[in-house]
Amino acid sequence: MIVILLGPPGAGKGTQAQTLAKTRGIVQLSTGDMLRAAVKAGTDVGRQADTIMKSGGLVSDEIVIRIISDRIQEPDCAKGFLLDGFPRTLPQAVGLDKLLEQQGKTLDVVVEMKVDDTALIERITGRFTCAKCGTGYHDTFKPTKAKDTCDSCGSHEFTRRADDNAETVKSRLMAYYRETAPLIGYYFAKGKLKSIDGMAQIDEVERQLNTVLDAAAA
Ligand code: AP5
Ligand code: MG
Repeated sequence: MIVILLGPPGAGKGTQAQTLAKTRGIVQLSTGDMLRAAVKAGTDVGRQADTIMKSGGLVSDEIVIRIISDRIQEPDCAKGFLLDGFPRTLPQAVGLDKLLEQQGKTLDVVVEMKVDDTALIERITGRFTCAKCGTGYHDTFKPTKAKDTCDSCGSHEFTRRADDNAETVKSRLMAYYRETAPLIGYYFAKGKLKSIDGMAQIDEVERQLNTVLDAAAA
């Protein structure tokens, strides 16, 4: 199935996408993760994206549509995928519609994760990630089970994102409200939108998400 997770920075898109990839075998496509990999690898795209990401702005539609266009044609996406952080603008949503149409594919559901703005800053500033396998954690809300040890791969190395500071979060939130929030109306009008309570605890959000995906798959 083809699913979009829609929500502001820190809403829990990546957390839930990682779980769904494990539990339902849906491929997670995070444009944020792909762009961070490009920055780390020092590619042309990475060089263009680096400054923009650090400032909390949005990378150009052209770049991200091309990344997604290439990625969804890979064999592991044949049975479907879950988009985390894409689309983020109306041109990206229209671009995705065109790509899916060209490939004879249909979008199943767009899940909006509703979270209060005040909770987002706390979530983002407490986030850390396993440097080896990418599993996401939070100082308070999702600590590792054993101190300084990744639950998934046992690594002891963790990273914090360059854009995870209170100042940049404000720019990211502004970009969300200006460019991405209009997609809620876009997908509602298409009859694809479902909303869930992203303020609930991580397990409860997962339960709600599974209910929505089960209904969309039925
Ligand atoms: P991206 O990586 O997509 O970042 P984002 O949208 O800002 O979202 P986050 O990854 O910050 O939040 P999330 O919803 O995944 O939250 P998470 O699950 O980690 O994009 C980064 C940048 O790349 C953009 O600013 C832009 O520059 C560029 N970019 C990417 N895609 C683009 C595109 N399509 N177009 C243009 N530019 C693009 O959770 C956050 C924390 O909260 C974690 O620590 C987690 O453990 C915790 N948490 C999760 N759920 C809960 C819960 N229910 N209760 C308590 N804590 C929770
Ligand atoms: Mg994320």
